[in-house]
Amino acid sequence: MNILIIGGAGYIGSHVAREFLDRGHSVRVFDNLSSGLRLNLFPEAEFIHGDILDYTGLSRASAGGFDAVVHLAAFKAVGESMIKPEKYSVNNINGTINILNAAVEGGIKNIIFSSSAAVFGRPEYLPLDETHPTNPESYYGFTKLEIERFLGWYDKLLGIRFAALRYFNAAGYDVKGRIKGLESNPTNLIPVIMEAASGMRKEVEVFGNDYDTPDGTGVRDYVHVSDLAIAHAMALDYTSKNDKSITVNLGSETGISVLEIVEAARRITGKPIPATIVGRRAGDPGKLTATSKKARELLNWTAKYSDLDTLIKTSWDVYKNQQ
Ligand code: UD1
Repeated sequence: MNILIIGGAGYIGSHVAREFLDRGHSVRVFDNLSSGLRLNLFPEAEFIHGDILDYTGLSRASAGGFDAVVHLAAFKAVGESMIKPEKYSVNNINGTINILNAAVEGGIKNIIFSSSAAVFGRPEYLPLDETHPTNPESYYGFTKLEIERFLGWYDKLLGIRFAALRYFNAAGYDVKGRIKGLESNPTNLIPVIMEAASGMRKEVEVFGNDYDTPDGTGVRDYVHVSDLAIAHAMALDYTSKNDKSITVNLGSETGISVLEIVEAARRITGKPIPATIVGRRAGDPGKLTATSKKARELLNWTAKYSDLDTLIKTSWDVYKNQQ
């Protein structure tokens, strides 16, 4: 199939591009390189340097008979979204409306969208399934939920089929070592730990050890980025073969604490990785885990690479060269 990947030079997008290429699809990447990197591009994929806020350029890039658009172009820093909501409105919401309209104009029938576990907000029960109420705690999560609603209307009114993939905590790097781009100024836990291991930062701050969890630190469901990438390909098979949309959680169904990750990282990297306990980060729930039963049943997807050691080893393979 012909696939347009918007945000395909980013951390998750480059893994998604790799997966579609590996499956023999033809890929065009569209990215403004604001956080994406040229280093994450593959020669087999065509690249267009453009911005989703430029409708003319986007619609030109969306023409030419694409079967699907994969949309991963978004800002994703939860804390920043609470301070600069306008930035998230413009890029995440306006940008997505442009993508949807360019897809309609270009006759693209399938959209695979990067949604997030942040749509749920504070959990009422765990593990989170797809029917859990959605009450985002952050403006970032709100933008993802609004986009899911737009997708629902474009499905109903225009026959566009979508897959909304609610990622839990994406982590790790391509198991074959083909992706090497580092995120700049990361805020997510595993890249922060990797930066501490490679000497790019002094220490890891652990945001709270007084949660109601076995060791008191935050527990999350980490899912390997290659597993996420595979899910995008399976989701497109689903929407295109069944002519149906789908919203699914993507997680490993395993809860891992901050300290468990720090300890595994010390063991695997052989580095001391200093860690200091500081106060809780505003808005962080103690524990979030997914059930991925729906993805298993409808997409035939399960996480294959999301065990703790693979998450850390594949990350370290990229970060160790930074020393
Ligand atoms: C959040 C979102 C998630 C989103 C992701 C994108 C929520 C509930 N989750 O994940 O949906 O896709 O951001 O960026 O909004 N931690 C530390 N020290 C650090 C960094 C993190 O202790 O320096 C802890 C956090 O308190 C948390 C865990 O590590 O317990 C994971 O944090 P992080 O990687 O930032 O992801 P989330 O906030 O879980």
